[in-house]
Formats: sequence, structure tokens, C-alpha cells
Amino acid sequence: MTSLQHFGWFLARGFGPQGWGAAGWDWGHDWTTPALYAQSAQLLEQAGFDFLLIEDAPSMGSPETIDLRVRHAFGGPKHDPLMLAPYLFQATRHLGVIPTVNPAAMLPYTAARQFATLQHLSGHRLGLNVVTDTGSARHFGDAPPLAHDAAYDRAEEWLAGLRSLWRSWNDGALVADTTTDVYADGSKMDAVRHRGEYFAFDGPLNAIPFEHGEPAIASPGGSGRGLAFAGANSDIQLALAPLHEQSVRDYRARIHAAAVERGRSADDIRIMFAIQPVIVSSIEEADRIVGASAAPDDAALLAIARKQSSDLETDLTALDLDRPLDLGVFGEHVSHGSIRRLTGDRDVSSTPLRAHLSALAKAGRISDRTGFVGTAEEFADMIEELGEWGNDGVLLWGDLHPVTLHRTLDELVPVLRRRGILRRDFEAGGLHANLRAF
Ligand SMILES: Cc1cc2nc3c(=O)[nH]c(=O)nc-3n(C[C@H](O)[C@H](O)[C@H](O)COP(=O)(O)O)c2cc1C
Repeated sequence: MTSLQHFGWFLARGFGPQGWGAAGWDWGHDWTTPALYAQSAQLLEQAGFDFLLIEDAPSMGSPETIDLRVRHAFGGPKHDPLMLAPYLFQATRHLGVIPTVNPAAMLPYTAARQFATLQHLSGHRLGLNVVTDTGSARHFGDAPPLAHDAAYDRAEEWLAGLRSLWRSWNDGALVADTTTDVYADGSKMDAVRHRGEYFAFDGPLNAIPFEHGEPAIASPGGSGRGLAFAGANSDIQLALAPLHEQSVRDYRARIHAAAVERGRSADDIRIMFAIQPVIVSSIEEADRIVGASAAPDDAALLAIARKQSSDLETDLTALDLDRPLDLGVFGEHVSHGSIRRLTGDRDVSSTPLRAHLSALAKAGRISDRTGFVGTAEEFADMIEELGEWGNDGVLLWGDLHPVTLHRTLDELVPVLRRRGILRRDFEAGGLHANLRAF
């Protein structure tokens, strides 16, 4: 039986000149002003999306490779998505907005107070995407970057700190009784007094408690430690995994087990698989796009090399396409996982760079589950199938240009609604209420 699933939009390159270089860029939108985002947020709300999640990284990367990251605007500049959120709340009534936050960049008391303020201002529609990137450590002090798992430990301590501050007003602390002229009862507040491994602060928080829940917590980490973090803390897990039945069921089971292990229920988390679909109006067009992608020209390969050069902070554009990739070009700072995403399971010593880039260029059809190019009906078939495996929802990903949103959603939304997969109405009570409605 078809059932409702949650939909979110992921602004995957952050609050910056995302979409730079794309054919639809020159529409006269100014990415530094709110109008473009407000328009897109309204469109997402009308489409029945629960939330917009905005990627972020505070840093443009290491000084030696900064040019690779900014030249085509893949890795920066990025403005702070938390500052954009109020404008999006102002433009909408139901849409949740989830900016990305790195616990390295903000003291717990400051974060708890700012997010509490925005949770109230937004009508309880705020979320936080908690990430643990350590590459930006040098912007926040002179301590060396933490190791991978330690960054998760710090994030966990940070989040527990926020929650202890948000909960520092006990029941009855907020009185607001005009007949007795008492606003609040200080004897019902916790002093908190946190002395941890990474943070030390006192409460209580100088912000009032929430009527409809704390800001929702999202997290994207896919490692064992990342999944444990999600199980313990998150309301939404952003999942990147192959979308075949066993993989989807396994991923969900791992998150659910992590939640139960930490005393939560499997139903406390919505697991949203990230997908970047290319929705086209006919089967013929989908076949043509996929066919063309199998033989990319050098210009197409250069575009992929530029993006990879930014993500890997290593210049691939100057390398000979027809020679094997020398792994020595990658510095120590480049993660092995990222290199493997480029090389796949091909033999690096004998495979020319052209073959690795061509593999990234290759698109696949939704209809045979080899990729994400297809019609709205084909995409809806896939989402319906995911639902049969117990899926909670999907995170569609792209830029926030209205052209991108219209191309993706214009035909898709009515099809998903007709099939009973996409909500028509929102709940009262903000983001948590919408996430828990089904
Ligand atoms: C859907 C999705 C969204 C992400 N958003 C961000 C982000 O906004 N900022 C960031 O630094 N990393 C982001 N990441 C990367 C993760 O934070 C993390 O570095 C990556 O998933 C590796 O984590 P792991 O080592 O636990 O597997 C995202 C990953 C996914 C799959």
C-alpha cells in the first residue's frame, strides 16, 4: 500500500554562487540577497516539502589549494546559512529550515541561545544539521584539528550541552501570570554547570523554553561513529547509500539499532536518502541523455575534473587524460574515501584518468535503477518502491535556482500527490510535528 513519505531539499553547495557555470545561471538573481531563496522556499512549501537543508563549510580549504576551490565556486565562497534562515522563515509559514552548523565554530551557550531565539521566531520550524568537518579548525583557534571520531565526541558533548541549556527551565519556571505580576520563577531553573572534555559553561539559559519541541537535529555522517551519533541524537539522518532493497534495509537497520542501543526508539528518526534526480518529460529524452553521457567529450570531462579538483583539493585539470592517474598527486589531507569515489574499483595503475572521469559522467536511467534520469512517473515508481521497503523519505539535492526547482518539481509534485506519496497539508506545531505526522 502506498503511504506518505517526507521530502526535503538539500542545497548541496551551500549558500553561495551555487549553480555558477550552469546554463540557467544568468537569470539576474543575486545570490547574496534573500529574494532568490525566498522565492525558492515558497515553491518548496507549495510543493509540500517538510524542509530545506542548507549545506555549509566555514572554510574555503587550505591556503595552498584555495584557488582550486573558489575558481569555479564549487568550494566557496559560502555565506552563513544561519543568517539566511530568518529571511526564509519570513517568506513561508510551514517550511522547516535546517542550516548546517559545525560545533567547532560556536560555543554551546551562544549556540543554545541563538537557536532558541530562532526556534521561537520561526514558530518552531528550525533544525540544525550537525557536521564534524575538522578541516576548518585553524579558523577557530590554534589547537590542531581533532581526529575523525574525536570530532564526533565533541559534537555529542556540544549537543548534550545545548539540550541541557534548553531544558534548564524546569516545569513551572515560566509563570507569565499577570494577576500575580510574576513572569518567571528562578528557583525552578537549573544552574547546569557543565565541565566536560571539550567545553565548560554554566546555565541556566537566558531564553524561554519551547512549546513545540527543540530545534530538530539532522546529521549526515555515514561512518560507524557517524551512524552511532545519529542513533543517539538525530531526528533526521541524511543517508547516502545505493538504493537497492538490501542496502536500504541494511542502512535503516543500522541506524535503528544505534538508536535502540542509546535508549531511543527506531521511530524517533526519519531516515532520508539523498538523491539528485534529472526529471525529463519523456522516455525518449531520458534515453537520449543517458546515451549521450556514455561518450562524454573533452569539455564535459574538463567540467568534471574541475569539480573533482575542488572536492579533492588537488588539480586534476592539468593532468594528461590518457595517462593513468598517479596517486602521488594527492596530498595527505585528501581522504581515501574521496579518492576511491573517483577511481571506483578500476585498476589505478593501468586505467587512464579519462576512464575515471567518464565513469563519473555516466548517467543512468531510473527505470532500470542504474541512475536517476527519468520521467516523473518513473521517479514516482522508484519512491513508491522505497516506501514498500519502509523508507521514511528522500532528500532531493541541487541548487536553489527557481529554474532547477521548476524543472525537477513541476511534473513530479502532481504525480506524487496523485499517488498519495507527497503531503498536501502541513501540521500545526512546526518541523517536529510535520516529521512525526507519519
Ligand atoms: C546528504 C549529506 C549532506 C552533508 N552535508 C554536509 C555539510 O553541510 N557540511 C559538511 O561539512 N559535511 C557535510 N556532509 C559530509 C558529512 O558531514 C561527513 O563528512 C561525511 O558524510 C563523512 O562522514 P563519516 O566520516 O561519518 O562517514 C554531508 C554528507 C551528506 C551525505
